[in-house]
Amino acid sequence: MDPTLYRLALYAHILGMIAFFMALGVYAFGLVALRRAWRVEQVRAICGVIFLTDAIAVAGILLLAAAGLAMALTTWNVRTGWIAVASISFALVAPIGPLIVERRLHAIDAQARLIAEGAIPDALLRQIYDPLIGAGLTVMIAWLLGIVFLMTTKPLSITFPSQKAPPFRAGDAWPARSVVRPGGREQLPVGPLSGSLTPHPPLGPGWPLRRGEWQ
Ligand code: HEM
Repeated sequence: MDPTLYRLALYAHILGMIAFFMALGVYAFGLVALRRAWRVEQVRAICGVIFLTDAIAVAGILLLAAAGLAMALTTWNVRTGWIAVASISFALVAPIGPLIVERRLHAIDAQARLIAEGAIPDALLRQIYDPLIGAGLTVMIAWLLGIVFLMTTKPLSITFPSQKAPPFRAGDAWPARSVVRPGGREQLPVGPLSGSLTPHPPLGPGWPLRRGEWQ
């Protein structure tokens, strides 16, 4: 991928992440607000505000995944450890929102619109205090923070070996392994192909702006 396009894709990826985290924050604080409400009208109003972020969350997820996959497929390698783990983790965490959290919040909203205004009845209170809503949100936020850690530190900077390479021993010079970008103009470091979990090489001055120069 052209370096300018790559930077734009990275920007889009980060924008998507911000949108997704923002929506998750609205859901989390919305849940806190729901648990402090004492009237049915308040429940309806809070649910209305929470659902305003649905479009932002969906757009964020799509942008995040599309830009991430574009960078991974064109410039890296989907078999690179941190990309493989992040992609699978992302696919596993994504359904928690619609299947566990959103479904319950929509049920609360529907129930609040059916009943008369006034004090919140016990049945609706039980729905609001359903522990799975908070647990689902906590798991998603923690999991995504884990993916951010993977993306930024790239601790599994290996490409799962399709061909054998000499084992990498402590004290060896860091092997010059790289992915040649399409057109063969630029290269990115991906770490040793030996399959060992060796840490990422020390990042030189100017990295990642000059990462193409690293051998
Ligand atoms: C489909 C799954 C994903 C793929 C294939 C993917 C792929 C990538 C790629 C290729 C980069 C560029 C790395 C670089 O140039 O240094 C990147 C960066 C990044 N990704 Fe992802 N990503 C995915 C999901 C996520 C998720 C779910 C998050 C966070 C919630 C995330 C957060 C980040 C961050 C913060 C960076 C910037 C890292 C840096 O520049 O050091 N990614 N991702």
